[in-house]
Amino acid sequence: MKKNWWQEVVVYQIYPRSFMDANGDGIGDLRGIISKLDYLEKLGIGAIWLSPVYQSPNDDNGYDISDYQAIMTEFGTMADLDELIAEAKKRGIQLIMDLVVNHTSDEHHWFIEAKKGQDNPYREYYVWADPVNGKEPNDLRSTFSGSAWAFDEESGQYYLHLFSKKQPDLNWQNPAVRQEVYDMMNFWIDKGIGGFRMDVIDLIGKLPEKEITGNGPQLHEFLQEMNQKTFGGKNLLTVGETWGATPEIAKEYSDPRRKELSMVFQFEHIGLDEIPGKEKWDYRPLQVAELKAVFAKWQNELGDEGWNSLFWNNHDLPRIISRWGDENDRVKSGKLLAILLHSLKGTPYIYQGEEIGMLNRQVTDISQVADIESINMYHERLAQGIKKEEILAAINRKGRDNARTPMQWNAGKNAGFTTGTPWLAVNENYPKINVEAALADENSLFYTYQKLIQLRKENPIVVWGTFELIETAPEVIAYYRQLGEEKWLVVNNFSRHLNPLQLPATTVLETVIHNETEKITDVENLVLHPWQSFIVKVK
Ligand code: GLC
Ligand code: CA
Repeated sequence: MKKNWWQEVVVYQIYPRSFMDANGDGIGDLRGIISKLDYLEKLGIGAIWLSPVYQSPNDDNGYDISDYQAIMTEFGTMADLDELIAEAKKRGIQLIMDLVVNHTSDEHHWFIEAKKGQDNPYREYYVWADPVNGKEPNDLRSTFSGSAWAFDEESGQYYLHLFSKKQPDLNWQNPAVRQEVYDMMNFWIDKGIGGFRMDVIDLIGKLPEKEITGNGPQLHEFLQEMNQKTFGGKNLLTVGETWGATPEIAKEYSDPRRKELSMVFQFEHIGLDEIPGKEKWDYRPLQVAELKAVFAKWQNELGDEGWNSLFWNNHDLPRIISRWGDENDRVKSGKLLAILLHSLKGTPYIYQGEEIGMLNRQVTDISQVADIESINMYHERLAQGIKKEEILAAINRKGRDNARTPMQWNAGKNAGFTTGTPWLAVNENYPKINVEAALADENSLFYTYQKLIQLRKENPIVVWGTFELIETAPEVIAYYRQLGEEKWLVVNNFSRHLNPLQLPATTVLETVIHNETEKITDVENLVLHPWQSFIVKVK
């Protein structure tokens, strides 16, 4: 496989609404991001994935776009965005834009036109269907609860929305829609961005009349066309969000010979703590052995014909230490999670606040919740007779606001995020967990992330080495990485209990990183401490 810059970097995701507010209106903005670029440079990242900053009525916090070529008023101006691209580049950081083209906002002018009548030229930009027996055309459901079909009184037809009613789905079967998207992408490419993160891209091949949403028959044809007409040959980072991807499917997207995308986010590990066949809210505890098997499967299967994205967190997921680490052993378990992820093969992503070990927050009433997915689910389950306490517990565990509380910069008012009133309450733990405190403590999680990024820059084995899983106790995730003569052993005790490690005779040459103070000199017959994690060079 040809080497690309996007395989060698670590990407940092910014959720702009919650990152840094520069003007005191309680909402994060572009000038706020610019003011924190030095911090990101210090961390060592090579790219920022910026969640949507386009004009939007914010029904789904910017994932409902009303103008793809204008900046959301609350976030700043196009001049600010140009400055962000330039200032980031000065620090060796590429800007990856979020591309949300499965749907638009219902306030996008295409949809406003489309609603005007069945003969409007924009009508076929969206997906319309006649009622069947006076009801919805079929049983397709929205990810945000309820039917995926909304009735339009004026024309007597339904339109499709796989997310909220205010996010009508675009009709990718229509070549005019595809061309509009490609033109828009080229507008952004010409600005000098580093690539795109493609929102729910596996849905664009949908055939709603057949109730096919993910992985439709023309999906890959559309992506190959997109590649040719936009970023092909420009060596940009393109990463698709693909919830239903198996390794076979992931290879279709990311095998370089197929000329589609650089890589995809696959979510197989993310589903391991939900009851199979149910929804993310329906919880079962994680089995570490299953996590290990899923990681090993993806490492092995995407060997040479594809590329993995590595992530624990994003703006849709709960905080990983609260989820699978241990809040009571926050720094140590956080370091294990970091070492494990960053020593796998693929491109690692850090979500804002992960590098300082931010945690979930707890709500006691639905009025404290901002996320549309959680709110809709709450009302749906309440109507089904499920107890309020039970639903709130599910929201506290998995709700998207967990990731969206403001970034904790310091121990001052509102965690230093804003001088005004934050749009979403700051997590109460900010006096203890914040960037300033992390930077002042040489043993903080921040410096583990910084070191892991540095190791990646200095040791090709981290990027290019092969992966080989070692048979161990169920809660121990251990593997070798190897490149030429060089061999690293990675050991993670993914547990709050002691676990044995038995390896064949191994000579330890050097400790690369360890989340305890001691150096590792011998790995034979170790009893691993809770959350112990290390990398050693071996012979
Ligand atoms: C993706 C985004 C999520 C958004 C949805 C609809 O899953 O990550 O935040 O709500 O798509 O755009
Ligand atoms: Ca602001």
